[in-house]
Amino acid sequence: MDLSPPPGDLTLLPEWLALAGHRSANPEPSLARLFAEDSQRAQRLCVEHEELLLDYSKNLVTDETLALLTGLARARDLPGQIEKLFAGARVNSSENRAAFHVALRAPRGSVSEIEGNDVGPQVQAVLARMADFSERVRSGEWKGQTGKRIRHVVNIGIGGSDLGPRMALRALRPYASADLRVDFLANLDGADFAARVEHLDPAETLFVVCSKTFNTEETLANARVARDWLVAALGAETAVARHFAAATANVEAAAHFGIDPALCFEFWDWVGGRYSLASSVGLSLMLAVGPEAFRAMLAGMHAMDSHFRRAPLEANMPVLLGLLGVWYTGFLPAETHCIAPYSQDLAEFPAYLQQLEMESNGKGVGAGGGELEHHTAPIVWGQSGTRGQHAFFQLLHQGTRRVPVDFIGFARSHNPVADHHDRLMAHCFAQSEALAFGHADEPHRACPGNRPSNTLLAPLLTPGVLGQLVALYEHKVFVQATLWGVNPFDQWGVELGKKNARQIFSEIEAGSAVSPHHDGSTRALIQRYLAERRGGD
Ligand code: F6P
Repeated sequence: MDLSPPPGDLTLLPEWLALAGHRSANPEPSLARLFAEDSQRAQRLCVEHEELLLDYSKNLVTDETLALLTGLARARDLPGQIEKLFAGARVNSSENRAAFHVALRAPRGSVSEIEGNDVGPQVQAVLARMADFSERVRSGEWKGQTGKRIRHVVNIGIGGSDLGPRMALRALRPYASADLRVDFLANLDGADFAARVEHLDPAETLFVVCSKTFNTEETLANARVARDWLVAALGAETAVARHFAAATANVEAAAHFGIDPALCFEFWDWVGGRYSLASSVGLSLMLAVGPEAFRAMLAGMHAMDSHFRRAPLEANMPVLLGLLGVWYTGFLPAETHCIAPYSQDLAEFPAYLQQLEMESNGKGVGAGGGELEHHTAPIVWGQSGTRGQHAFFQLLHQGTRRVPVDFIGFARSHNPVADHHDRLMAHCFAQSEALAFGHADEPHRACPGNRPSNTLLAPLLTPGVLGQLVALYEHKVFVQATLWGVNPFDQWGVELGKKNARQIFSEIEAGSAVSPHHDGSTRALIQRYLAERRGGD
């Protein structure tokens, strides 16, 4: 199988040049005119799969734009790349391995092969162990060191070992057990640790150390203080075996830390950190919502996986979202992309997507090693509606920058309080309408309109719908990576800062010997820090 990225500089492809020509030959399409001229636009530029509906009609595209974009996708062999992803090929070229997260949510009994090796049985075996442990903890059968049941779980992890389960637990709060409080500790800041354990009884607390590498500074530092806190309170090292579990691809290191191998839940090097929610990284989530809801989320992910693999490009949700993003980033241009869930339960979704999109596609060098001549991932940001409306929507409506928005809403609420939900959704629809069609008035009151958005609508935020949403955006990122020619599964850019921090930490620990190799600013800052720190002793 040919694993090389599609050949050629994207911006020299005839299909790219055709899009550039299309952009410069035509004035920016007016959404008002497009809707006036085509009474079926909303129905036509709409795609549905399972419980998700994507309305992409309020985008600055004509039928010709969409045809040119799918032409570009074909020129980059998107269908072939999708097949490679699903075939367990080594699509993570710089690390020479598969990115086979779709195998984590394939139905029991299906075959998911990486180079002839079916990973399905090992995936199901870990899921079964997670389910067994979760049930024992949830039922109170699993006892801590002093014989008390577990009432608090603290997930210790960062990046992909934090953002996914944190976001999903917040989203599935209505499905969570009232008897088990699950919290997340991520930051290398004593304030985070202090706040997380403040009201906890160590005898009733389980820590889940979540780390693919089991080598991440923040996570290990937090795990060590958690272990000290626990052992100091319970009086014996043996407590670690009853109060610590791990989700990791490095079981050896977790066991070396002192975690009972029976409570080490494995995942594999072919699962990328930010694509790991469906793996044992979801253990804290499963502890909270139970194995059945967790499996329902996996089924939702699988439903979107199947859609992505089989639907024609023109009616393929992740493909459409990806292509629209390529259009805005490359040709309009737009530098950022706003995520606006009209759901408090999805409050963590923008932060989750920041890592998914920006760590995956925030690259200036192509998978083949050459510098890119085009922009890649936009800056992803956002906040739940209606809070964002009273913070940054002013800029969306009248600012000088173009910011495409994804609105996400639900027909029903898990918390039907008075008429809140109807009001909330009225705002969701009103915002995309106002952005698209604006309003003429005196200059300072006028809203120019023609500001693009997608709207995703589902009946209710269930585990299955959450799974569909997560997989939708994962695959959108893959589509864009394929078009932009980057490897979305590595993140070499984060390494330099880690290396520098190790060096500076050793200098801080030494107390005085600040290396002359630092620039003047960094050296002065460290020296000032050391002086101030001494002053506080
Ligand atoms: O530093 C970035 C990163 O490698 C992310 O990609 C990853 O999700 C995070 O750190 C945590 O890594 P680990 O799960 O190995 O602790």
